[in-house]
Amino acid sequence: IRIYISRDSGALALGAEAVVKRFEKAAEERGLDIEIVRNGSRGMYWLEPLVEVETDQGRVGYGPVRASKVDDLIEAGILEGKPHEKCIGVVEEYPWFKNQTRLTFARVGTTDPRSLEDYKAHGGYAGLKKALEAGPDGIIEEVLTSGLRGRGGAGFPTGIKWRTVADTPPQQKYIVCNADEGDSGTFADRMIMEGDPFVLIEGMTIAGIAVGATYGYIYLRSEYPHSSVALRAAIDAAREAGLLGDNVAGSGFAFDMEVRDGAGAYVCGEETSLLDSLEGKRGEVRAKPPLPAHIGLFGQPTIINNVISLATVPIIMDKGGEFYRDFGMGKSRGTMPIQLAGNIKHGGLYETAFGVTLGQLVDDIGGGTYSGRPVRAVQVGGPLGAYFPRELFDTPFDYEAFAARDGLIGHGGIVVFDDTVDMAKQAHFAMEFCAIESCGKCTPCRIGSARGMEVIDRIVANENRAENLEILEDLCNTMKLGSLCALGGFAPYPVMSALTHFPEDFGADKKRLE
Ligand code: NAI
Ligand code: SF4
Repeated sequence: IRIYISRDSGALALGAEAVVKRFEKAAEERGLDIEIVRNGSRGMYWLEPLVEVETDQGRVGYGPVRASKVDDLIEAGILEGKPHEKCIGVVEEYPWFKNQTRLTFARVGTTDPRSLEDYKAHGGYAGLKKALEAGPDGIIEEVLTSGLRGRGGAGFPTGIKWRTVADTPPQQKYIVCNADEGDSGTFADRMIMEGDPFVLIEGMTIAGIAVGATYGYIYLRSEYPHSSVALRAAIDAAREAGLLGDNVAGSGFAFDMEVRDGAGAYVCGEETSLLDSLEGKRGEVRAKPPLPAHIGLFGQPTIINNVISLATVPIIMDKGGEFYRDFGMGKSRGTMPIQLAGNIKHGGLYETAFGVTLGQLVDDIGGGTYSGRPVRAVQVGGPLGAYFPRELFDTPFDYEAFAARDGLIGHGGIVVFDDTVDMAKQAHFAMEFCAIESCGKCTPCRIGSARGMEVIDRIVANENRAENLEILEDLCNTMKLGSLCALGGFAPYPVMSALTHFPEDFGADKKRLE
């Protein structure tokens, strides 16, 4: 009997390890022959720990399963695929899962992330094979055709970034993967690294071949210890199999890589401070230009891409740029792994083509709030993203549509709040976050964030209200236009959106909530 229990951090946090131990013990006690495969998560976190039992019809899921209930489940016959109140049926037929368009996440939750054979058996390394046939120029053409844009948040066309580095004279070049996933409510990078690490390695290898880079670094946030273990094991296995090293898959191209651990600063997710940190310095933002594409790591031309951007390249190479481009809307092509978090009933990872509306994501897919109270505000794009009220729920998930409403989709994180949220506190938190995480290099961010907290406090206390509102707006504009990087430059978005859409929380009638 083969069963699957995830080794994803989310599942582990919910007790997956204890469930595994209990199954092992129960099998021993009952003399059952059970093979437990540790897969990635399917992304349905409200069902974790999810136990999947392999049957002739497919994998039948039961969740959430507590260790204390394992014996009851076995007695009820779940190992024979019998129904049970915890049963969700065949996992891949479960509507929440089935209705997705899983391209980047095609294997996550299906395969054993530690097995290179399993990866290859599910289409792994087909992208590299096609990439080697296409050659460097052909790869870049395919990525340009796909319309892929940087999934870290800025949405810059990946193919253009690659072309820029490819066009620099031959010299030592680097591929740097930004795995410093720091946005609140985001976990897509982590799920890939834990659930399908080979796809990231394959994507980085293809990038290296495309631009003439022979070495790669994954800059991993230190808060992801399970990703670190998964990545290091996968890199060793790929090297062992000749898929990394001096002669990648017998092609004559050289490419190798390593993982470097960050130390927990949010600003090290900004590409230039990431480079400083990778070079062993204190992570501080560098002025651009020069772009890292020209002068990057150790002064050499460098591609810096987010985990999801790189992990999407293998399927683009395998299925073709046009296949990928056919999903999505406007200039937002392909799919986006959207992360539903905060006060939400069905929290998790939902990969779908661009164009789905915010309302569909929150109400239909997310099922509304976990608390059961009405949804009041939704923050999209991390702690520096704007708050959206219900009136803007018709906004389609698309870079330009969000920008047109003074928001950003960022890395695809959605954090939901119910009607008990105090939006003035959230606005204050944005400035506080900026003050704590500021690298201190430029004045609008370093000083502005501290002054911002004070001005918000004065507005809430109804002190010289009109004057302080004007000061806040002026301060936000200064931060937006005058900050060196997105931390100071974007902090005004949550502040101003909270003030614009929820003015009642900033005024004298604030008592509404008390
Ligand atoms: P940016 O717009 O300055 O740059 C985007 C990327 O394009 C950079 O890699 C830049 O070097 C590159 N680039 C720009 N022009 C180029 C050219 N002509 N040729 C080649 N490459 C070029 O944006 P930035 O500051 O890198 O990122 C800001 C975004 O980061 C925000 O939108 C925010 O959503 C996101 N963010 C993501 C976080 C996460 O946890 N994933 C955390 C914080 C912010
Ligand atoms: Fe540093 Fe803030 Fe300026 Fe960015 S905006 S360079 S984090 S001080």
